[in-house]
Amino acid sequence: MTEQDVPAVSRLLGQSWRHTYSPILGAETTARLSDEKHAPERLAAELGDDNKMSFVAERADGSIAGYAMAAMNDQGEVMLERLHVDKSEFGTGLAADLLHAVLAAHAGIPSLALEVIEGNDRAIAFYRRHGFEVVERRAAAHGVGGHPSLIMRRLLPRA
Ligand SMILES: CC(C)(COP(=O)(O)OP(=O)(O)OC[C@H]1O[C@@H](n2cnc3c(N)ncnc32)[C@H](O)[C@@H]1OP(=O)(O)O)[C@@H](O)C(=O)NCCC(=O)NCCS
Repeated sequence: MTEQDVPAVSRLLGQSWRHTYSPILGAETTARLSDEKHAPERLAAELGDDNKMSFVAERADGSIAGYAMAAMNDQGEVMLERLHVDKSEFGTGLAADLLHAVLAAHAGIPSLALEVIEGNDRAIAFYRRHGFEVVERRAAAHGVGGHPSLIMRRLLPRA
């Protein structure tokens, strides 16, 4: 991902969050959280952060069809912080391609973890099918937007 991709990624995240989380968190909370977290200047700053890696999937015409971001947390564990594909790409395998790109870029790590909001059943089913298991449930106070979330982890084979 480059700085040129930032506006399109910000739009993709705004749409994806509203579509996915409005039914779970409510439209107002979802819009507020997304506008904060996905402001173009925040996404641009992340590109300069050595602990974060951002990925985009581009269509032949250069438009952005999907986006992922992985970050190293304070414990040295790599977290898949975001994985979003345009709704028109659901079920096409693009999300799996992005996940594989993230894994390939982090070859040698023992595991990949992520946090997903409870009720996001499509994402949870996707992650389960790709080898992630629920390892923790965060109560409302610690979850996103005051809603409980799940921590899922996939152990990776040692080379
Ligand atoms: C999560 C995401 C990246 C997955 O990509 P995708 O292309 O939709 O995933 P797939 O179609 O390959 O897999 C989705 C699975 O969920 C299943 N599914 C769909 N709707 C479901 C529902 N309401 N409840 C349970 N399972 C559901 C599908 O059948 C499929 O499982 P299967 O392949 O075993 O049949 C994509 O849906 C997305 O961008 N969602 C919005 C953003 C998001 O939620 N990101 C994750 C944040 S942690």
